[in-house]
Amino acid sequence: MSTYLNRSTLLDTQEATALREQTRQYFHQTADLYESLFQTLVSDEAYYVNPIKLRHPLIFYYGHTNTFFINKLILAGLITERVNPQFESMFAVGVDEMGWDDINAQNYNWPTPLEVKTYRASVRKVVDQLICTLPLNLPMDWDNQWWTILMGIEHERIHLETSSVLIRQHALHYVQKKDTWRSCSAINTIAPSNSLVDIPPRLIKLSKSPEHYGWDNEYGNFETECTAFQAAKYLTSNAEFLTFVEAGGYKEDSYWQEEGLAWRHYAQAMHPTFWVQQGDVWKLRLMTEEVAMPWSWPVEVNYHEAKAFCNWHSANTGKQVRMPSEHEWYSLYAHAGLSDEKVRGSMNANLFLDHYASSCPVNTYAHGDLYDVVGNVWQWTETPIFPFDGFKVHPLYDDFSTPTFDGRHNIIKGGSWIASGNEALKDARYAFRRHFFQHAGFRYIVTDTPLQIHASHYETDKQLSEYAEFHYGDIYYGVPNFPKALSDFAVQHLHTRPAKKALDLGCATGRASFELAKHFDHVTGIDFSARFIGLALKLIQQGILRYTMVNEGDLVSYQERSLAELKLTDVAHKVDFWQGDACNLKPQFTGYDFILAANLIDRLYNPRDFLSNIHHRLNIGGVLMITSPYTWLEEHTPRDQWIGGYKQDGENVSTIDGLKALLDEHFKLMQSPIEIPFVIRETRHKFQHSLSEVTLWERMR
Ligand SMILES: [Fe+2]
Repeated sequence: MSTYLNRSTLLDTQEATALREQTRQYFHQTADLYESLFQTLVSDEAYYVNPIKLRHPLIFYYGHTNTFFINKLILAGLITERVNPQFESMFAVGVDEMGWDDINAQNYNWPTPLEVKTYRASVRKVVDQLICTLPLNLPMDWDNQWWTILMGIEHERIHLETSSVLIRQHALHYVQKKDTWRSCSAINTIAPSNSLVDIPPRLIKLSKSPEHYGWDNEYGNFETECTAFQAAKYLTSNAEFLTFVEAGGYKEDSYWQEEGLAWRHYAQAMHPTFWVQQGDVWKLRLMTEEVAMPWSWPVEVNYHEAKAFCNWHSANTGKQVRMPSEHEWYSLYAHAGLSDEKVRGSMNANLFLDHYASSCPVNTYAHGDLYDVVGNVWQWTETPIFPFDGFKVHPLYDDFSTPTFDGRHNIIKGGSWIASGNEALKDARYAFRRHFFQHAGFRYIVTDTPLQIHASHYETDKQLSEYAEFHYGDIYYGVPNFPKALSDFAVQHLHTRPAKKALDLGCATGRASFELAKHFDHVTGIDFSARFIGLALKLIQQGILRYTMVNEGDLVSYQERSLAELKLTDVAHKVDFWQGDACNLKPQFTGYDFILAANLIDRLYNPRDFLSNIHHRLNIGGVLMITSPYTWLEEHTPRDQWIGGYKQDGENVSTIDGLKALLDEHFKLMQSPIEIPFVIRETRHKFQHSLSEVTLWERMR
């Protein structure tokens, strides 16, 4: 690259004015770079055709990073106006093959690239204005309101890389070479033969420093004794991997793990995905071109292919060959004498786009007696990502990590040629599904030490576990199960009204959606939290839920609940769950006979808008059921948005009066409000007992 890319902002070593200015530069440079990446697409059509199945087309990613900014800034209360509500629901979610990603093309009427470019420019003005004017009090840490701005920038840096991978997977005729994205010209160099380096035992102690921005999964503590092992001096090159391909490695099932074998059969893979075979000649697909195979560059494969190579290598050598675990990678990093400070100042790694828009030979950048401990391509590890002790979700991005704590996402370390910002730091913990392709390869190690697996099959997130118990667990103090009681109450009052489609808004972990499906032909559950939705989907997929419940302090008990026990198995096929924002729902969620908004309105950032527009989603004659304990809190809802619970001109305004005023234009209150109680178990000795006021509203107009 001709321009030198800013490193991620140093947060703990400067005063406010310098920090503000550096953040502003970092923001604009990131936005410029993202724009420039999309200039490698040749036509509008290139934005709309999916590079690979199961992912959105690139137009989504073009708009997504700016939508993310607006959604998070609204959530943080730093702005109140949306730039484009339609774009901001369309570009909001759908990036990792999650069950709640809606990638059905029928549901999207994508705007033109020019419209998105204009939108991006408008968002850029909003963010720039905020960076210039928002009061900045140090320290700049996780609780600082500026964290949201850093989050938006670092999020775009991640998508800079993931979008570059999608562009690399796009058909060649949709992409074009650009001077600013020039690949390495060292194509015809001979690959060095690999050898093993002794790595001594070492205590690995991890704890995130306040120097840089970090994602939630980097915080907490981790400590372990790492035993001695031997590591390959170089990343595995294309030449070294060719010996495995030519030995029939893609045909011999015994080298492949069960999951890897299923992937290989599905993908019909016979060689690494970016290799192109033309007769006897091999070529390599780069981001915007195909070149003669650079045998000395690192091979890029998914975890399954790397694992099969290691197993083949073990069989050939009689040694225990595998990839390093996460902590073994830290041992390599320490052995190489690296630190964030050294890496950020040097150009001695194929990182930060400092050198090329591609990989380069594996013997270019030495780090001690190893090469490419950071940079060139990411390195797969054997470790499925897990939370460190003391892990907490960041309240503004609760689904960054938690959906990946499922034993199916492996950590990659070291960064690639395009990794920058947080991605290029030692502490970064990115994890991808094992069949995914990034600019990622591997280094093998030889060791007899068995792998430590940290994954837990039990949901241990305290809030999720409380909700799992609230929805699917025991009855406490004789108070009936709340979601079931709501569903029973609704069905009793709906009588013979149409019962085709119901919407459960703010469905949390989904019990009411399942219950309503006994009466309705189809029920859609939507919640803002992907963590909650993830749990509901797990129930549909596996029929079973396992979680820990806190008894006292660190003491927990283990629970298992099933749809079968609750007699809900037969209706599960009638339910679907989506992540969504009740204040900015996607257009396809409409035409309902019944909408349940249970314990929702006092959690919304904009309940007035929600109530003024909800009739659009309901058929005439359809029923809206609102239940709420009316717990108005400024942390969820700005005071000027409260529906009630305040004084106006010296008079009390109750929520029921506020509801009547807002719903009167389109709805009729069907009967007097009633109260339905609920109990949430926090620990064995602490329970919350609340009363939710229930009102039913018929849409008249
Ligand atoms: Fe994203």
